[in-house]
Amino acid sequence: MKEIKDLSKEEAERELEYIAKEMAKSDIAYYQKDNPYLTDAQYDSLKRRNEEIEARFPELVRSDSPSKKVGAPLQSGFKKVPHRFPMLSLGDVFSIEEVEDFVQSVKRFLNSAKELDFMAEPKIDGLSFSARYEKGRFVQGATRGDGVLGEDITENLKTIKELPQTLSGDFPDILEVRGEVYMKKSDFFALNEKYEAEGKKTFANPRNAAAGSLRQLDPKITAERNLSIFAYTWGEVSKRVWDSQADFFNHLKAWGFPINEHNHLCRSVKEIDENFQHLMEIRADLDYDIDGVVYKVNDIALQERLGFLTRTPRWAVAHKFPAEQAITRLNEIRIQVGRTGALTPVANLEPINVGGVIVAHATLHNEDEIKRKDIREGDYVIVQRAGDVIPQIVGVLKDKRPEGTKEFAFPTTCPICGAHAIREEDEAIRRCTGGLSCPAQAKERIIHFVSKEAFDITGLGDSIVEDFFNEGILHTPADIFTLEERNDDASLFAEQKGSVLHLEQRNGWGKKSVDNLFKAIQAKRTISMPRFIYALGIPQVGAATALLLAKNYNNFNHFMAEMQNKQTELLVSIDGIGANMATDIVEFFQEAHNLNIINELLQYVKVEDYIDDTISDSPLSGKTVVFTGTLEQMTRSEAKAKAQKLGAKVAGSVSAKTDYVIIGADAGSKASKAQELGIKILSETEFLELIK
Ligand code: IVH
Repeated sequence: MKEIKDLSKEEAERELEYIAKEMAKSDIAYYQKDNPYLTDAQYDSLKRRNEEIEARFPELVRSDSPSKKVGAPLQSGFKKVPHRFPMLSLGDVFSIEEVEDFVQSVKRFLNSAKELDFMAEPKIDGLSFSARYEKGRFVQGATRGDGVLGEDITENLKTIKELPQTLSGDFPDILEVRGEVYMKKSDFFALNEKYEAEGKKTFANPRNAAAGSLRQLDPKITAERNLSIFAYTWGEVSKRVWDSQADFFNHLKAWGFPINEHNHLCRSVKEIDENFQHLMEIRADLDYDIDGVVYKVNDIALQERLGFLTRTPRWAVAHKFPAEQAITRLNEIRIQVGRTGALTPVANLEPINVGGVIVAHATLHNEDEIKRKDIREGDYVIVQRAGDVIPQIVGVLKDKRPEGTKEFAFPTTCPICGAHAIREEDEAIRRCTGGLSCPAQAKERIIHFVSKEAFDITGLGDSIVEDFFNEGILHTPADIFTLEERNDDASLFAEQKGSVLHLEQRNGWGKKSVDNLFKAIQAKRTISMPRFIYALGIPQVGAATALLLAKNYNNFNHFMAEMQNKQTELLVSIDGIGANMATDIVEFFQEAHNLNIINELLQYVKVEDYIDDTISDSPLSGKTVVFTGTLEQMTRSEAKAKAQKLGAKVAGSVSAKTDYVIIGADAGSKASKAQELGIKILSETEFLELIK
């Protein structure tokens, strides 16, 4: 690409036209179809190039220039809502030097030499919303739309549990709170998993999933998706009773809004930089996507003096994370077969460093995706860590394509067992029809069976299960419970496992590790009902659904009998279990091979009845508590159990979401963090008093 200074006027004009068209196309794909056409990095670099060309040739600025637009063109279907105060965008910067420039320009504008405080807030990668409250009641919700006119999403926002319907404490008569609607990564994965199981089209990333869920004309659909919010700014207010952004956050919290736990007041560019580095480091561990950090002048009086440029405030800027993309060779397209038989294509890549993480595999989603992008073995591809979760292939460098590559032919038989792999009409996924006779499915079922939220058997990690399965030591989950007996009786074991002798003789194993494994297995001969149901690996039934089933049926045999007899009255009445899921559950219990596995298991395992003994009207119900320091009148586990029994969530670290921190002797940083965040601190005695 030519440098801006070398562009002729004609070239500049042509390029501006090209950029305007590309970005308009991308806007439509992004905002209306929730299916991005350019990557964020490509979009940002076009936007920036456009700005730079316009700066050199101001006379060439087009009437449809991207620099004049804020956000999305409007989509029909929703009622329009005018914003009394426009919902603006933020200027972007990409380096600490540019942040420094921003800070200097603010100081220059204010004619101030002294250091200013900036509130640094993670830039949440979601969609902005506005929520209007009159006399403390939620009356209207809107999207940003084009910044001036938004879309009326009142009913959709009402389905988001985190958004208060009525405000707590003191509040202005009219208050418009603004923030971001997003989908947690964990909810995104669960949703995609569910859609994949149902053969529906999955979402490319949490942001698209959030957009697709929020902008639904039927709010019932929004209600089925778990959306979350963070509040961070305001629109119209009848009386502003806060004088800084930090103070505003305190009010937001008191009114009942979730605010981000990593909002952090910075007192210098050095602190801004440290905070930025820190967020880059923890970014992957957060349960939501962030794409940068927003800096806002903390003092509102100064914000008002600074005012706005055409589309952006002069008092705030977005510091974007560097794009995490790289080019590498795709060596092979491998087909994985999952627990439910889904054939998933995975790209084996020449390992490459993408933004600090070595990436050797990327998802290719499904058959259609490979076709659409014409991805071939041997191609050079652009890999991206999308929203920092699953690496994806953004595109193929067609001009670097080696000779002799062939279009990828997606298999129509299972690469593991050879059974037909069929794709139902309207389904995106092809599935192996082999059931448990397919080793891949059988193996994945055992891996799932021993996983953390299921039987959680320490010592039986994925690779050990894989080895045991391949060697014929384990065929079904029930075999886990005869392992010890077979190991003791060498002849019994030898028969099944061919030449391998006792487990203790395996490479890397000894008497101690074998004893520990058997102990871990013994300990799980009694299992809770939700874990047992989850462990079975019923399509669509995750841990949360398993819990719902246990809560409603209380006894496993009863549940199983009802399912076998297709008694679905109770099943479909459960809040959270839809018709489609109910069908999958009932069908699971019609299959002989599943019933065999369960009956075999029940010979060795006792499934406890589920007794729902949490108390819902306790002072702790729904609250998040953290214990720290040494307790004297009870052990930590005892205290946790007590709190949980009273309906509390017990967390390991203090955040803005914490309601109570209970401190024992020698409490350390958690106590001071609680103090800093203004969270209620209780002594052990006060805690016992509270729950008495
Ligand atoms: S403040 C006038 N704060 O980023 C300032 N925006 O590029 C208005 N965003 O439209 C925005 N996190 O959708 C602000 N902590 C944060 C944010 C944030 C994410 C989004 C928001 C905005 C876009 C601007």
